[in-house]
Amino acid sequence: MKAPIGVFDSGYGGLTVLRELVKALPACDFLYLGDNARTPYGTRSFEVVYQYTLEAVTYLFRQNCPLVILACNTASAKALKNIQVLHLPHIAPGRRVLGVIRPSVQKAAELTKNGHVGVLGTAGTIASDSYPMELMKWSGGRIISTVQEACPMWVPIVENNEIGSQGAEFFIRKHIDSILLKDRSLDTLILGCTHYPLLLDSIRRYVPDHVEILDQGRVVSEKLVEYLGRHPELDSQISKNGTVTFLTTEHPDIFDSKATMFMGRAVSATNIHL
Ligand code: DGL
Repeated sequence: MKAPIGVFDSGYGGLTVLRELVKALPACDFLYLGDNARTPYGTRSFEVVYQYTLEAVTYLFRQNCPLVILACNTASAKALKNIQVLHLPHIAPGRRVLGVIRPSVQKAAELTKNGHVGVLGTAGTIASDSYPMELMKWSGGRIISTVQEACPMWVPIVENNEIGSQGAEFFIRKHIDSILLKDRSLDTLILGCTHYPLLLDSIRRYVPDHVEILDQGRVVSEKLVEYLGRHPELDSQISKNGTVTFLTTEHPDIFDSKATMFMGRAVSATNIHL
C-alpha cells in the first residue's frame, strides 16, 4: 500500500523544509504534522523531546507513511538515533525515519574549503553537540573545526513576527558577532534551526560575504532525492499524486494563519491528538 512521506516538526519551522521538499519531489504526497500545542522543543529536556517525537513518529507510521522526515533540528538532535535504533524495528520494520542534521553536515563538509564550520541553533540542539559529532563522522577523515552558538531569541522573533524590527536586528547581530569571534576563519555557516531561513536577509547583513550560509531546506531535499534514488524499494512505497496534507496538535485556525508565512502559500490544517 502506497502512502505519503511524513514530515514532522515541533510546530511551524518544518514548513521551511517541507516547502523545499515539495519543490524537489513534486509528484510525491506529503503528510505534515506540527506539534504546535507543545512547541517549542528547543528549550525542553532530552527526555521530553524524545517522548514527544516518538509519539509523533508513531502517529505518522500509523498513517502508513513509509518514510518520516524529522524536519526539526532539536528532534533530530535529541530523538532520532534512539528512535532509529530502539523503536523502528518494533513499530515500523522496513520503514525509515531520517533527520535534518546528517544531510546538513554532509553538505557543509563538501562546501567548506578551510574546514572551519559554524553552527547556529536552539539551546537544545547546541547542547546536544550533535552537529560537531556528526561533522566529525561525515568529514571523510578531514579535520573540521566546529564552533557553535545557541540563539534562544531567534525562534520567538520569528514566531512573534518581529522579523526586521530593531530588537530582532540586535539579537541577530549579537549572535553572529559572537560566533564570528569564536572562530574568525569560518567559511561555512549552518543555520541549524528550521526558523532561521526566515531571518536570512538580516543574517546576511552581519556575515562576511565569503562565508557560505547553508540553506537547510534545500540541502535536505537535494539529499533526499539522492537517497530515494539509492533506495527504489522505499521510493516505490510513496504515493505520488502531488498532494500536501497538514495536521496540527493545535487549533487549525491558529496554525493556518501562521503557517502561511512559513510555507509561502495558503495552508489549511486538521487537528489531531497525539
Ligand atoms: N523546529 C525547531 C528546530 O529546528 C525550532 C523550534 C522549536 O524550538 O521547537 O530546532
